[in-house]
Amino acid sequence: MLTGLAMTGAGVLVYTLESAQIDNDIDQQIDQEIAEFRQLERGTDPQTQQPFASVDSLLDLYLDRNVTDDDEMLVAYAPSGAQRSPNRFGEAILEEPGYDAVLTELRTTGGTAVYDSPRYREVWVTLLPVENAADPTGDGALVIVNFLDDERSELDRTLRTYAVITVLSLVLITFLALWQSGRLLAPLRTLRAAASDITASDLSRRIPEQGNDDITALTRTVNGMLDRLEDGFEGQRRFIDDAGHELRTPLTVLRGHLELLDAASPEDVDQTRELLLDEVDRMARLVGDLILLAKSSRPDFVRPVPVDLGGLTATVLAKARGLGDRRWVADSTASGTVVVDEQRITQALLQLCDNAVKHTGPGDTVALGSSYGVDAVRLWVRDTGPGVPVADRAKVFERFGRSAMPEDDEGFGLGLSIVAAIAAAHEGRVHVEDPVPPGARFVITLPTGRPSTVGAATVSTAEEDPWPAS
Ligand SMILES: Nc1ncnc2c1ncn2[C@@H]1O[C@H](COP(=O)(O)OP(=O)(O)OP(=O)(O)O)[C@@H](O)[C@H]1O
Ligand SMILES: [Mg+2]
Repeated sequence: MLTGLAMTGAGVLVYTLESAQIDNDIDQQIDQEIAEFRQLERGTDPQTQQPFASVDSLLDLYLDRNVTDDDEMLVAYAPSGAQRSPNRFGEAILEEPGYDAVLTELRTTGGTAVYDSPRYREVWVTLLPVENAADPTGDGALVIVNFLDDERSELDRTLRTYAVITVLSLVLITFLALWQSGRLLAPLRTLRAAASDITASDLSRRIPEQGNDDITALTRTVNGMLDRLEDGFEGQRRFIDDAGHELRTPLTVLRGHLELLDAASPEDVDQTRELLLDEVDRMARLVGDLILLAKSSRPDFVRPVPVDLGGLTATVLAKARGLGDRRWVADSTASGTVVVDEQRITQALLQLCDNAVKHTGPGDTVALGSSYGVDAVRLWVRDTGPGVPVADRAKVFERFGRSAMPEDDEGFGLGLSIVAAIAAAHEGRVHVEDPVPPGARFVITLPTGRPSTVGAATVSTAEEDPWPAS
């Protein structure tokens, strides 16, 4: 449609401009004839070397000398009679009544009139009165007749050709555009078809990637998104699987003990009761952890407020002392304000302390510390236990992900994923590394990009492991 509009517009413009040009050319031609005639009229008769004595002689000489164009005819109306310039056509117009009517009208007004001849179509008639005071026989007139039909028909013919070519071009362009847009949009159709085939239960389908254009880039993005979705769904499924397993074990224990319970023996009842309460506690803890993890994706999981970092570190250390008989140490304490949810961060640090206690023995060191880095606040728990093998360092942060554990440990492997969820809710992260002396150091890194986080000095009180100066 756009091409059609543009080509039609171009045609109309060319037609208008060319028509105006034709009118202009004829105007100039007429002006030139008039100028030539007036010049001759002012001059002298070559026969007498005197000014022209009569209208007849002037018109005779003018017609003799003038060479007319193909589409022009000069008619001289002299007192002695009318005569016309030699011309390949045109004399028939002199017999047309319409022509006579135009002449009659022009005799009074002069100038040029457009006459629509039945035979010659568009004709311009210009009348020039010729007078000579010295000639007693009377006045005459010079009539310039211009036939425009040839030029107009030529323009019409050209435009007809143009119109035919326009229509053919439009057909061609339409087919090319259809073909090309079909080719360009084919990957989009494939994308749509593949996307509608992908359901929550089957995320394994991928859209074929070919080419190197924007649509391929989009396809790649969608495939990447599907990868992540599949990972997410897979993780979710594994999580539910693991949670189910973990809950089934205590239930089996409960059932087994209840079946074997000898209600008549008060001793057996007491023993079983204690055991079962223990199992129920364990189950309650697991359910509590699962609920906490489910909540962690909610926006109101953390409610950050400005908290004094030094105070926070000291409080957690004081609380952690109750977890076990260890050498509790403050590595270094940063003073300053950080915008965090104090309860959640305390909960995360206590989880880390709990792990540290589990993996160390009485007399071992467990250290707590905090520092202001260039762009982040770090909070860490360090112990001198066996540490986490490099191969397990990603796994331990996963839900139900566990590495080596001390014998008869009752953990589920959810503690570190809770810590990771709390760090993520603060836009931070948690990782484990090797400290000096050997052991494990779990570090929570929180960005200080928040406007109300005020940086301050870190006072190192470390005896064994000063935090690297950053
Ligand atoms: N301080 C540590 N030293 C050595 N290994 C650790 C330490 N902390 C955690 N781990 C390893 O990481 C695994 C995951 O820890 P996580 O706290 O998630 O689970 P858990 O302590 O086993 O169980 P839960 O915390 O749910 O009671 C643990 O099983 C243990 O192998
Ligand atoms: Mg734990």
